[in-house]
Amino acid sequence: MAPTDPHSYTDSAHPVTTHITLSLYIDFPSTTIHGSALLTLTSPHTGPISLDTRSLTIHQILDPKTLTPLPHSLSPTTSFLGQCLSVHLSNHSSILVTYSTSPSSSALQWLSPPQTFNKKYPYVYTQCQSIHARSVFPCHDTPAARIRYAAVINIPRELSAVMAAKHVNRRDPVPREVEGVGWGSEMDSMWAAEGRVVEEFEMGLPVPPYLFAFAVGELGFREVGVRTRVYAEAVPELLDAAAREFAGAEEMIRQGERLFGEYCWERFDLLVLPPSFPYGGMENPRMVFLTPTVIKGDASGAQVVAHELAHSWTGNLITNKNNEHFWLNEGFTTYAERRIVEAVQGEDRAALNIGIGWRGLNEEMERFKDNMEFTKLKTKQEGVDPDDVYSQVPYEKGFQFLWRIERQIGRPAFDEFLKKYIATFKFKSIDTETFLDFLKSNIPGIEKDINLELWTEGIGIPPDAYEPVSNIYTQIISLANEFKLGRMPREDEVADWQGQEWELYLENLPKSVEASQILALDARYRLSESKDYELKVAFLQLAISSGCRDYYGEVEKTLKEVGRMKYLRPLYTALVQGAGKEEEKILAKRVFTEARVCYHPIAQGVVESIFAKHL
Ligand code: BES
Ligand code: ZN
Repeated sequence: MAPTDPHSYTDSAHPVTTHITLSLYIDFPSTTIHGSALLTLTSPHTGPISLDTRSLTIHQILDPKTLTPLPHSLSPTTSFLGQCLSVHLSNHSSILVTYSTSPSSSALQWLSPPQTFNKKYPYVYTQCQSIHARSVFPCHDTPAARIRYAAVINIPRELSAVMAAKHVNRRDPVPREVEGVGWGSEMDSMWAAEGRVVEEFEMGLPVPPYLFAFAVGELGFREVGVRTRVYAEAVPELLDAAAREFAGAEEMIRQGERLFGEYCWERFDLLVLPPSFPYGGMENPRMVFLTPTVIKGDASGAQVVAHELAHSWTGNLITNKNNEHFWLNEGFTTYAERRIVEAVQGEDRAALNIGIGWRGLNEEMERFKDNMEFTKLKTKQEGVDPDDVYSQVPYEKGFQFLWRIERQIGRPAFDEFLKKYIATFKFKSIDTETFLDFLKSNIPGIEKDINLELWTEGIGIPPDAYEPVSNIYTQIISLANEFKLGRMPREDEVADWQGQEWELYLENLPKSVEASQILALDARYRLSESKDYELKVAFLQLAISSGCRDYYGEVEKTLKEVGRMKYLRPLYTALVQGAGKEEEKILAKRVFTEARVCYHPIAQGVVESIFAKHL
């Protein structure tokens, strides 16, 4: 056994999957998917081959040519890695698996009608990064093994399906079209039953499995650009607001192309998910998934869109070989995002984003002070659940590293280097060493000016990292320092502030201040009632850590209306961290018990591990 990825059972000595054909029957009443997966390997193989699965029930494993069963075994579930499905091949180059997911499959969130906007139909969507694709279909679930795929999704006729893939057709299901897969006659008649429809998709470019994504619900869309539609639940006000918020998408794509080369995914559609979506955005190719919390009416959603768009080059074209090199995805993307933001919104806005990132990076040093491994860019993740160690470090330290290189060689040379890097490694999955070798051979002598080893393998923040300077950034930091001396900002000083300015201000206040100061600040600026969750959560976090109980009602409400982990993590942590605080701990446990069903399984897991650590 020669694993290439600490998070996968894939054996690097064996052929890997290059193509998957999926048939998925979405069964809302049982919140399961009945599926068949036809896996094609790089070459014929004899002997065992290892696939990743998690909470799947395997029905049959067949030789697709003869439909005869192939010997196989499923290891017990020992951890978040799921189960290793070992199939014994005799010169086979393809495998057919029929299986069902379980209601607890970690990639899938099933929403009942009352949990949707229109409250009429159910909804289901996937979130596969980092290692949840295996809970939707058996696969070599490592970004080292890129796949093309075709998928047929069978859904109730009132609904529609979207995928991070090309839409090919919506048509009636054909009786027995999946006959060959041996699902049995019951499944065959369900497939073509009255009231069902199938949607067909194709992903013709090789992508890592974590970019597999679909959503099914009562969906509508608006056109916002020549290659961009925004999709969301079919609620006219929601669609209109989303279309307004993301009207600038095409301009961002053009800036991206200017900076990083051709946009090669053809479409750049956006899907606005229900409020329980656990991330701000997910860079699913051709169709980025977004939290509805970015729609605030002040065009600030642009930052998240710029980020997910930037992944079209860094992450989706060049991919980290495994999660130990995650900074290659997120650090490059954070750098690229800020270049796009600078081009469309100006230098001050970009500097503000860098400042918020800088603050975040410094806070992560505190969070990981007993586990400094995760302050490195390149990390060891054997036995580590990537969802547990998700942090700003790969984003912000990665950004700082690239920014440092830019300062060293100058922007024109760095721009040229980036374009060449992307052109050289597109559609490849690489590691930190490959990047460093490429850097050293294209920028000779760079290792004499920058301590590359300290940056990539060292803990903490290197001394040549850099806090941004800009008028607005500096002004906000000094106002935050004055608050410590008892002075609140005047109306005229904050007149132009949007959410991000406030966020930066709040995050630079001391962790704990007098409750009376919090109340006074809120009485003047109404931060606790803001529609901007970034700001509101920063405020509530400060209120909790200052022991100001007046806002616990608002905390509870927030924890029950959104499932974005960026908000759940700090709020639950602030409630349960530290000695004493019995009332807070009881509150946290009660709220989680009540809100749990509304969270995505990944978010449920993350809150559970916060509790396990602190309770
Ligand atoms: N790819 C990430 C989201 C992700 C990371 C999902 C790891 C699962 C595991 C996405 O591109 C991202 O970084 N989203 C950010 C957006 C922000 C940086 C603008 C988020 O969700 O907060
Ligand atoms: Zn990202």
